[in-house]
Amino acid sequence: MKNRITPVFFWKLFLTLVGSLFIVGFAYVFITATLAEEYFQERNQILNAPIAEHIISEVKPTIVNGQLSGNALDDIMHHMMAINPSIEVYILDPAGNILNYVVPYKKVKMEKVDLAPVREFTTAGGKAYIKGDDPRKPGESTVFSAAPILEGSTTLGYVYVVLASEEYESAAAIVRNSYIMKLGGQAMLITLFSAALLGAAGIWLITTRLNRMINTVKRFQNGDMTARIDVKSEGGINDLAIAFNEMADTILGNIENLKSMETLRRELVGNVSHDLRTPLSVIHGYIETLTIKKDHLSEEEREKYLDIILASTEKLRKLVHELFELSKLEAKQVSPKKEPFIIQELIQDICQKFQIMASEKNISLKSDGKENNVLVLADIGLIERVLQNLIDNALKYTPEGGQITIAVDTDEDNVEIKVSDTGPGIPEDQIPFIFDRYHIGDKRITLDQNNTGLGLAIVKKILEIHNSSIELRSRLREGTTFTFRLPGYHTYA
Ligand SMILES: Nc1ncnc2c1ncn2[C@@H]1O[C@H](COP(=O)(O)OP(=O)(O)OP(=O)(O)O)[C@@H](O)[C@H]1O
Ligand SMILES: [Mg+2]
Repeated sequence: MKNRITPVFFWKLFLTLVGSLFIVGFAYVFITATLAEEYFQERNQILNAPIAEHIISEVKPTIVNGQLSGNALDDIMHHMMAINPSIEVYILDPAGNILNYVVPYKKVKMEKVDLAPVREFTTAGGKAYIKGDDPRKPGESTVFSAAPILEGSTTLGYVYVVLASEEYESAAAIVRNSYIMKLGGQAMLITLFSAALLGAAGIWLITTRLNRMINTVKRFQNGDMTARIDVKSEGGINDLAIAFNEMADTILGNIENLKSMETLRRELVGNVSHDLRTPLSVIHGYIETLTIKKDHLSEEEREKYLDIILASTEKLRKLVHELFELSKLEAKQVSPKKEPFIIQELIQDICQKFQIMASEKNISLKSDGKENNVLVLADIGLIERVLQNLIDNALKYTPEGGQITIAVDTDEDNVEIKVSDTGPGIPEDQIPFIFDRYHIGDKRITLDQNNTGLGLAIVKKILEIHNSSIELRSRLREGTTFTFRLPGYHTYA
C-alpha cells in the first residue's frame, strides 16, 4: 500500500532541521563577528593606552585662558601623525568641556565629554577596557586613551584621544574579509551541510519506520486482524509499536469473546428450546387430559397426573436455572470473588444440609482430615456449589448403606479436597464425557427423575475460573472419588 503521508512528514521535519541549523549558523557568525570586533577594540585600547600620556610628556601642552597654547596644537598634530594617523586628540578642561581638538577633516558635534569613563581609565592605569564618548558621534561610544594635564597636584585638564577612527576599516569588515574568516565560513558551511545530511538520514530512518507502522495500522483498520508491527527491542518509537500490538491483541481478544458469547447465546437458545420441549409437552399433555376428562377421572388418577405435572415444572425450573448458571460461567461473565475462608466449616454446613437425605438412604456422610481450620482463597459461593453438586451426585448414585467421605488435605501451596463414595463407580468408557453438559451416565434415568446432566459441567467450569481442575478416580462396584485443589491462603498472606 502506497502512503502519501510520510514524504510530507519527512520534508516538514527536514526543513525544520535545516531551518534551525541555519538559525544556529547565523547566530554563530553574528556572535563571532561581534566578539571579534570587541576583541579588536580591546586590543586597540590596550596597545594604545599610553598614547595620551605620551603626548603630554612629549608636547607638554599648556592651557592659557582656557585655550591650548598656540604651537602646542601644531606640535600635537605632527606628533600624532607620526605616531598614528588614525587617532583624534581633544583637550578637555577639568569639567570635561572640549577646549580644543586635532581632528582631521571631521566636524566635532559635542561640546562636552563625560568624564566618568576618563577617570575610570586613568585610575585603572590604562589596563581596563572602557568606552567613552565619541565627540563626532553623539550617543555612540568608542575606545580611547586619556591622561590628565597636571600642574603640581592640580588637574588643569585632560588629553582625550579617540582611538578608533572612521578612516580605517571597521574591525567587522576586516574580520569579514580575512582569509581565516573565509576558511572558518567554509568550515561552518561544511559542518552545516554534514549536520543536515546526518539529520536527513536520521529523519529518513524514523519516517520509514513510522511509514511501516502506519501501513500496519491501516492493514489492521482494513480488517486484517493479524497485522502486527515487528518489534525487535523496547524503548523510543518501539514503545508505540508495542502499545499498538497490545491494543490489537486486546481488540482481537474482545472480538473473540463477543463471538464466543454469541455462539453460547445461540447454543443456549437451541438447548433451552430443545430441553424444555419434553417437560413442557408432558405438562401440556397431562393438563389437557385433566381438562378433557375432568369428570371421568378418579381422585387417584387426578393426583397422579398433578404429581407428574409438579415434577415436570420442578425439572423445568432446575433446568432453566442450571442452564443459565452454566451459560454465565462459560461466557466468562462470572469472575470469582476470592476471599479466605475455612474450608472445613463450609463442608460441615453442606453436610448438615444433606444429612436428612443421607439418613433416609441410610448412607453415612462425614468429613475427614488431619488438619482443622485450613484457610483457602476462593469464591465461597461458587465452591459451595461445587461441593453441593459432588455430594448430590454421590448421594444420588450410591446405594443404601453406602458411605460418603469428604477429606481435606494440605500440601505446601494447595489444599486438596476429595469427595469419595462407595457407589457403583463410573464405567471407564464414560469417564472422558462425564464433565460434558447433558451427559447422563445411566440412560435408564429418565427426565422426570430430575437429572439435567449439567451438574459436573458446572463443577468443571467453576474450578476452571479458579485456575484449578478436577480429577476423577472410579472403580466399578467400588466407588468414585472426585479430587480438586484450591490455593491455600497462607501462601498469599
Ligand atoms: N458419584 C457418582 N457415582 C456414579 N456416577 C456418577 C457420579 N457422579 C456422576 N455420575 C455420572 O455422571 C453423570 C453426570 O453427572 P452430572 O452431575 O453432570 O449430571 P446429573 O447428576 O445426571 O444431573 P444433575 O446433576 O444436573 O442433577 C451422571 O448422570 C452419572 O451417570
Ligand atoms: Mg449431578
